[in-house]
Order: sequence, then structure tokens, then C-alpha cells
Amino acid sequence: MFSAEEKKSHDEHFKFGENWDAYSKTIGAADIKEAEVGLLRLLPAEEWRGKTIVDIGCGSGIHSLSMYRLGAANVHCVDIDPSSVNTTKSVLESFDIHTKTEVENILSPEHLDEYYDIVYSWGVLHHTGDMDLAIRNAAKHVAEGGYFIIALYRKTKTCDTWVPIKRWFTKRSKVTQTLVVWIYLFLRAINRIFKLKNPFTVFGAHKNKRGMKEYYDAFDWLGGYPYESSRPEETVAFVEGLGFETLLQPKKKKEKTGLFGSTCVEYVFRKVS
Ligand SMILES: C[S@@+](CC[C@H](N)C(=O)[O-])C[C@H]1O[C@@H](n2cnc3c(N)ncnc32)[C@H](O)[C@@H]1O
Repeated sequence: MFSAEEKKSHDEHFKFGENWDAYSKTIGAADIKEAEVGLLRLLPAEEWRGKTIVDIGCGSGIHSLSMYRLGAANVHCVDIDPSSVNTTKSVLESFDIHTKTEVENILSPEHLDEYYDIVYSWGVLHHTGDMDLAIRNAAKHVAEGGYFIIALYRKTKTCDTWVPIKRWFTKRSKVTQTLVVWIYLFLRAINRIFKLKNPFTVFGAHKNKRGMKEYYDAFDWLGGYPYESSRPEETVAFVEGLGFETLLQPKKKKEKTGLFGSTCVEYVFRKVS
């Protein structure tokens, strides 16, 4: 499945799959609805209907599930982590959906079809260890006129500081990781009090976040290693250079401190040449 070198490097990666497995047990109807809303923010309903899609880094499978609910013809679900692949398979099968779910490293893909109408990879390519190569490899599989939908961390002033923290976190025991997650959530709640915002939102499900929940997102943020980030204008120029036009222009924002992390910028491109 992986070469010895790939295996060694993957052993140092955060095991996203365990987190997705735990999260998947909490998925309810409201989360699935939010996940669908998240997809419709990227493309209107008619653009999902009847499409062949690859979900690269499928994680919990909630978004692949939502694509089927929006009428996708076929969703090929791939992820580097076997635990994410198993979770996606069981989430889909619990809705009687049987599709191809495979372990795949986007840095050296072996199982992808030549082309898909939509290549979707949300919050993944910046965790591969080589974001540019990952973008290139994923983009190659977009059919002429098809969509390339990705989300990548926005560059902040403290992105470089977060890298060793994340690497440290991935090497800790589950007990230490859980403790660190609670401390992080507690500090974020305090920060919200200072900003005169409701601190309790930090401990629950968050709305308009694609069905995601704060606790699992915090694990994902603190552990998400390897980690890269980019400035939207750089990503747009890079992907346009691969023969795409930009349909969803990311908002221009001042570079933030990123004390509590970064957020993902969503991009929608269409293959034009
Ligand atoms: C932050 S999660 C995002 C999951 C999902 N796309 C979502 O939006 O909820 C990143 C996922 O990418 C997967 N991943 C990381 N590196 C990868 C690689 N090189 N190839 C394929 N998947 C990868 C991880 O295992 C993890 O499930």
C-alpha cells in the first residue's frame, strides 16, 4: 500500500481517522443538514446532481453522504488514513449507500479514475506535507469544464509557531492530548468573554460550520500535522496557472495573528484548458 519511506513519514502524521471515528458517532440529522448547506454554499444544487465526484481526504464521510443526498451519481471516497476510510464506509452504509472507499495518498495516487466532474478536497491538501504537489495531483483529475473545490488554511502571523506545537501534540498520549484540547477550549472561551461574545459556543456544535463540532475541530486543529497555509491570492494564481478559472473569489482580509489557529478559505475553480 505504502512504500517504507511513505510509511515512516505517515507514522509522524496526526491520526485524523481516530478523531473522525469518534465524531461520526455524534452525527445527527442537524449535522447532515449543515453539511448540505455547506456544499450548497460552494455550488448550487443542480451542479451536484448526477455528477461523478472524488472526495479526497473524506474524513468522517459526512460530506460524501451529503453529496449523495444532493443527487451525486457517484462519490469515490479516498483518504490516507485507513480509519477515516472505515468510518466513511460505515457512515455511508448506515444510509444504505455502497460506494468505493479506498486508502489513497494524494501525493502518489494509484486508485483515482482519470477524470471526475468534481474533485473535492476540503481541509486536506495542507496536511499532506507537500501542499503544492497535492494541489497539482488533485487538479489533474478534474474533467474539462469540471469543478475543483478545495479549502486551505489561511496564512496567519503565527502559522510557523503552530507547526512545532502540532508536531509535539501528535506525539503525546491520548490522555495528554485530551487535556490539551480542554485547556485550549477553555482559553478560547475566556477570549470570547473578553470580546463580549457567548463563551459556551466553544463547547458545543457550531452553526454554519458544515456539521462540524468544536471539540472535534479543536482536536483536528491542534493535531493537524503536517501543516501548511497560504495567502488566497497565491493559491488563486497557482491554480489558475494549472488551467482553471476562479468561480468563488476568496474574501480579502487583513492577515490575522492566529493566536487560536487559522480558518480555512474555500475555493471553487473550473477547468478551462
Ligand atoms: C482535516 S481532515 C478533513 C476531512 C474532511 N475533508 C472534512 O472536510 O471534514 C483532513 C483529512 O485528510 C486526510 N489526509 C491527510 N493527508 C492526506 C493525503 N496525503 N492523502 C489523502 N488524504 C489525506 C486525513 O487523514 C484526514 O481525514
